[in-house]
Amino acid sequence: MAVRKPKVVVTRRLPDPVETRMRELFDTELNIDDAPMTADELAAAAARADVLAPTITDRIDARVIAAAGERLKLIANFGVGVDHIDVAAATERGITVTNTPGVLTDDTADLTMGLLMAAARRVVEGSDVIHAGGFHGWSPTWMLGRRIGGKRLGIIGMGRIGQAFARRARAFGLAIHYHNRKPVGARITEELEATYWDSLDQMLARMDFISVNCPHTPATYHLLSARRLKLIRPHAIIVNTARGEIIDEDALAAMLEKRELAGAGLDVFEHEPAVNPKLLSLPSVVLLPHMSSATIEGRVDMGEKVIVNIRTWMDGHKPPDRVISSML
Ligand code: 8YV
Repeated sequence: MAVRKPKVVVTRRLPDPVETRMRELFDTELNIDDAPMTADELAAAAARADVLAPTITDRIDARVIAAAGERLKLIANFGVGVDHIDVAAATERGITVTNTPGVLTDDTADLTMGLLMAAARRVVEGSDVIHAGGFHGWSPTWMLGRRIGGKRLGIIGMGRIGQAFARRARAFGLAIHYHNRKPVGARITEELEATYWDSLDQMLARMDFISVNCPHTPATYHLLSARRLKLIRPHAIIVNTARGEIIDEDALAAMLEKRELAGAGLDVFEHEPAVNPKLLSLPSVVLLPHMSSATIEGRVDMGEKVIVNIRTWMDGHKPPDRVISSML
């Protein structure tokens, strides 16, 4: 007798091979138009699905969870960050939440290094000059940036992505400093020759480059507050490929405008997709549209993880990438 396939609602377009496999394995509803779902559409999807496969553009808040039908048992997020999902409310209703850790670590770390390089060495500014027909000949004092090697990098959040970025930064001659809830183990400390700061304030006041690599949780919201941003030295550059909400974006933009900070490389924003208008006009700021995990390979791997999480749940096992709300 054929076993009923679970109804899986996928909220956005995913890479073709992922969608095709999902159609083979599950009773899958795809979003062919790729239009982000409204709150009402999400609530309706939660009411009819066994499994919801959302992305960062979907707010799975307490209202959506409350609208879930008896059958909704799994929210298999396409992405590692789950700050758009009310995990506590889901857990309360007996709904498991999973994510996709590991497969986007290297891509995100690569682009973090790219942003640091672009901001410090004025890569986008230089490119813009050429596109605007403004290159009229080399000059010894033109387009000078800041050397990367030999400087201090302070990483906020030394999880998978923070460590992968630290490895790349070491290869560029940066000294690794970090702030984390707790120090990393001896083997990694030794490999990275990393210095742990339990006081974020003290670390910020001493760094040349700062990178945000921690998850967004209630505890990290505005971790880089207006007060903390003031501790950073004016020649420093900040990079953020984690979540916009971790930095007070208004305060950051105001400081960059007043040149109280040398520059920034931002892939994420506090009110995405809106970007603080002040940032748009500053040549010292490199802005990317949340694309640090955006590789073809990475997005297929993320989809595979979603499928594995759904399949293991379907087979009666605990999905490998369960998110536990007490860990957030
Ligand atoms: C993803 C991300 O592309 O995985 C994350 O947490 O920030 C991105 O790199 C996005 O979240 C997909 O939902």
